[in-house]
Amino acid sequence: MTDPTFPIRCRNLWKIYGPGAAALAATHAPGPDPETLASRGLLAALRDVTLDIGKGEVFVIMGLSGSGKSTLVRCMTGLVPPTMGDLLIDGENLRDMSPDRLIEIRRHKISMVFQDFALLPHLTVLGNIAFPLKVQGIDRESRERRAAELVELVGLAGRESHFPHELSGGQQQRVGIARSLITNPEIWFLDEPFSALDPLIRHEMQDELMRLQATLNKTVVFITHDFDEAIRIADRIAIMRGGRVVQVDTPEGLVLAPADDYVAAFTRKIPRHRVLRVASVLGPVSAGATGDPVRNTALVGDVAARVLAADAPLPVVDGGGTIVGSLDRQSVIGTVFGVNA
Ligand SMILES: Nc1ncnc2c1ncn2[C@@H]1O[C@H](COP(=O)(O)OP(=O)(O)OP(=O)(O)O)[C@@H](O)[C@H]1O
Ligand SMILES: [Mg+2]
Repeated sequence: MTDPTFPIRCRNLWKIYGPGAAALAATHAPGPDPETLASRGLLAALRDVTLDIGKGEVFVIMGLSGSGKSTLVRCMTGLVPPTMGDLLIDGENLRDMSPDRLIEIRRHKISMVFQDFALLPHLTVLGNIAFPLKVQGIDRESRERRAAELVELVGLAGRESHFPHELSGGQQQRVGIARSLITNPEIWFLDEPFSALDPLIRHEMQDELMRLQATLNKTVVFITHDFDEAIRIADRIAIMRGGRVVQVDTPEGLVLAPADDYVAAFTRKIPRHRVLRVASVLGPVSAGATGDPVRNTALVGDVAARVLAADAPLPVVDGGGTIVGSLDRQSVIGTVFGVNA
């Protein structure tokens, strides 16, 4: 059952809220229909969610308010028991775990950053960051030494003895991030961690997250409402609607092939040149293409200036240096303004 390349696997996961939910689930496998739920006054926060999250992947969950994003992540962290279905962490089914094993996983393997920071007001920056190690029973000197390293890592040096109320929102969230990393978790959950921050600080925190991820290489599950944030950080994005996952794809895949009108509407505002790669918009190999070639995997936005400044189309090459097509101004302009594929 263990598949190390997919640390998280959800299989036909349901979470139904309301009286008699468990009994209903027992008699309505593989899942109740919407009429049955409505007639009993039950709410399905998750409906038949099946997905795999890869090792080292940054997996973003998006969807309107109430679509089930936090419920999904709370199930993955063992905070909320699913009503039906399986949730496997490194091949271990959460449902079959003893309470002790679940505590162990939550202390060592996974960690979470909350939207509202959730810092302990009576502890200093250092005390807050070291807290998960205190819970593990690690001695004060060792945990504070490790906390001091994380203070450096998240750029809070000099503020170790401040209390949360003496920090800005961005600084508080840096404490939350450092605290979530102190146990060196393999899987890192973040539920709208930057939504309380103003746009500039938010951008800075996204850079910080990407910088940390580049060195730490965790499996990251990140909830956001913000497409700009999602396309900056995501390897893949899951779009949720009414408790269902309607599509899981790369940002480019969502834009090029939305599964339905809802995803199409959801992704309409994404700037296409920031998600489409040259391979999706190139023209045929052309004798007239000259100059330094562009890579087929580059984002159109990253090569746009060069193409627009050139007198002729540029050749496009694959990873092996073979010419696979050409890129002209019209394709770039069409991508920026959303008028071609
Ligand atoms: N403990 C609970 N009891 C009853 N219903 C709940 C409970 N928790 C969540 N819900 C309902 O489940 C649905 C999904 O909630 P969830 O918090 O997962 O949404 P979300 O996508 O995270 O929304 P938001 O973007 O606002 O955070 C909502 O309709 C919510 O009201
Ligand atoms: Mg939520």
